[in-house]
Amino acid sequence: MQSLNKAQIILALDVDTFKEAKDFVDKLYPKIKIFKVGSHLFTAYGPKIIELLHKKGAQVFLDLKYFDIPNTVASAVAAAVELKVKMLTLHISGGQEMLGAAVSAASRQAKALKITRPLLIGVTVLTSQMAKAGEVLALAKQGLASGLDGVVCSAQEALVLRRKIKKNFVMVTPGIRPDNSGKDDQKRTATVSEAIKAGSNFLVIGRPILKAADPELQTEELLGELYGAGS
Ligand code: C5P
Repeated sequence: MQSLNKAQIILALDVDTFKEAKDFVDKLYPKIKIFKVGSHLFTAYGPKIIELLHKKGAQVFLDLKYFDIPNTVASAVAAAVELKVKMLTLHISGGQEMLGAAVSAASRQAKALKITRPLLIGVTVLTSQMAKAGEVLALAKQGLASGLDGVVCSAQEALVLRRKIKKNFVMVTPGIRPDNSGKDDQKRTATVSEAIKAGSNFLVIGRPILKAADPELQTEELLGELYGAGS
């Protein structure tokens, strides 16, 4: 697995146009070094958006949340490895066979290209939904047993997962909100410090930065909180 240093903030590039994405990257890189490309931007602009980020020197979190038959997901993951993304997501509910096929395809492709395999991150329950007790833990265990490197989880769940799963794995936490802001459609939110204390490695932040009156200042404040939390 890629080595993990300090926790990092990932900006979710949830914007409508290439130009908006480019403006945010120009403004916020290298304060922010990893940018999340989701289904909206990737459907609209494809690998062009990834090239933009790589040219700048930034790293890419490809968040397409793959969920399909094993062969299809394996091919999609191999194609994502070719794009040299740092990390990507797939739904753990796709099942053990799908996850296993994805892990094998990623390892094979990375070896063929002589590059480090991207981190394969499993989606448990979307943070816009309420999770049933034990559901996230069971899914996380299943994903890690299938060879995934980590999981997406809320800060509340992160605490439980770190306590209950006795192995080294990555936690990616969305639903981060500054103390004084609303939740938008997120049901399970936390501040940067709470997520760090819970043991998250990557904090995915979208609207709090994208919609801020001054995104650079907001980023600096969030980074200040990140470093202050001892990360
Ligand atoms: O704007 P906000 O900070 O809520 O953005 C959160 C980002 O994290 C969005 O891009 C969303 O798709 C993503 N995400 C999430 N919950 C998950 C997985 C990803 O909110 N379980």
